[in-house]
Amino acid sequence: MATAALILAAGKGTRMKSDLVKVMHELEGRPMITYPVTAAKALGAERFALVVGHQADRVREYYAADATISIVLQEEQLGTGHAVACAGEFLAGCDGDVLILCGDVPLITQETLRSLMAVHVAHGGTVTVLTARLADPLGYGRVIKDATGRVLRIVEQKDATIAEREVTEINSGIYCVNAAFLRDAVMKISNDNAQKEYYLTDIIGLATGQGHACYTHTVGDPAEVMGINDRVQMAAAGAVLRRRINESLMLSGVTIIDPAVTYIQQGTIIGRDTVIYPNSFIGNCTVIGQGCVIESSVTITGCRLADRVHIKAGSVLEEAIVMSDTTVGPMAHLRPGTLLKEHVKIGNFVETKKAVIEERSKASHLTYLGDCFVGKDVNIGCGTITCNYDGKKKHATVIEDGVFIGSDVQLVAPVTVGKNSLVAAGTTVTMDVPPDSLVISRVPQVNKEGWTKKKQLKTERPCVE
Ligand code: UD1
Ligand code: CA
Repeated sequence: MATAALILAAGKGTRMKSDLVKVMHELEGRPMITYPVTAAKALGAERFALVVGHQADRVREYYAADATISIVLQEEQLGTGHAVACAGEFLAGCDGDVLILCGDVPLITQETLRSLMAVHVAHGGTVTVLTARLADPLGYGRVIKDATGRVLRIVEQKDATIAEREVTEINSGIYCVNAAFLRDAVMKISNDNAQKEYYLTDIIGLATGQGHACYTHTVGDPAEVMGINDRVQMAAAGAVLRRRINESLMLSGVTIIDPAVTYIQQGTIIGRDTVIYPNSFIGNCTVIGQGCVIESSVTITGCRLADRVHIKAGSVLEEAIVMSDTTVGPMAHLRPGTLLKEHVKIGNFVETKKAVIEERSKASHLTYLGDCFVGKDVNIGCGTITCNYDGKKKHATVIEDGVFIGSDVQLVAPVTVGKNSLVAAGTTVTMDVPPDSLVISRVPQVNKEGWTKKKQLKTERPCVE
């Protein structure tokens, strides 16, 4: 087993037409470069060198906490062979075999890498190339074999003869190579070719020239070795990744009504018998328990949902925790710092932020709950607002257990409503309320009898008396 992997990622990615280096573009929630790294890690690789050039610091920063990853700078991109030569120091520390991957080939799976390694080890090969058979091999390096099927060399599209261009077996750019051979071979590559680049692929010809055996392993699904050069290909790769994520969730017991329009990012965990309706987006390491229902057009990012949670259509949940048997939505917005305990009900057009809501409490309609603590068995009427912001600072509202808040109430924070109190509809609460109280603040109602009739008779007069 190879214990080292080299990932080539110094190219700028000109065709992405972006200010961000290609390999840091996100695919299903993770930078593109993490995919080959993760696949090699899953295979058991323990040391990684990422050859980077453009925006090297971004990649370095992303992996700052990972001690297994070294960053190798290739200041000028003189070709894939030159990229490997830049990693000389890393290679000096390798014995056995090295896996070479590309930072912009994210769909490669650990199973394919495992098969590549197995072929390499079984033959005791010096270089083993992962290849694919493509109906349209245009642009790729072609694998040139002799009549007996022995690999002779790889020729790039631009250097190939017309006959060589007919070859449909292409080089994926992924290899398993003996480290000692590689160290020596990359120093011997020249740039005497159509692109005046140092081609890594020349190590194949060097190996066969020295009498070393080279082998190929052909990938079953050519999509795995698809390289990403532009945003069209990136979207196509995203679709493949989503399909893989959705299929693995479905096989683990999650119902996805229409996987073609369900967007679940890498790293999301979902329990069995949870049902996901179409057009949902779930990501940023969200964890969802068992038996939940996620209705259509819901966005959930960075959240933890326990079991039997029901999120109704059109809701948005960000960095919130929702405990079991709680219902949210439709069209509710849980913002960061929301904690809903068991059997809570948050209804339509309710927004919460830094809000802890204890068991069995309800806010069923049109409410803003920010910077607040709501105790158990509280009922919050329609149109309630915690006025938490004075223009400079945020203040807290505490609503203790058993409180009943009528409709259209404003709670001007900082304020506490004591246990089992009743706040009458239309009240503006500006002072703390002791437990077991009724609080009411309204302009007394005035009924002016016959007023509208009178008004109709004298329409020419201004309407306010
Ligand atoms: C390369 C292969 C080609 C293969 C194809 C598969 C060579 C000479 N050709 O061609 O046979 O079919 O990949 O996709 O290797 N990179 C560096 N530094 C450099 C140049 C490239 O780090 O100086 C990195 C790129 O960021 C990329 C990878 O190496 O991740 C491949 O480079 P690219 O220029 O895309 O090679 P291709 O021309 O596609
Ligand atoms: Ca390429």
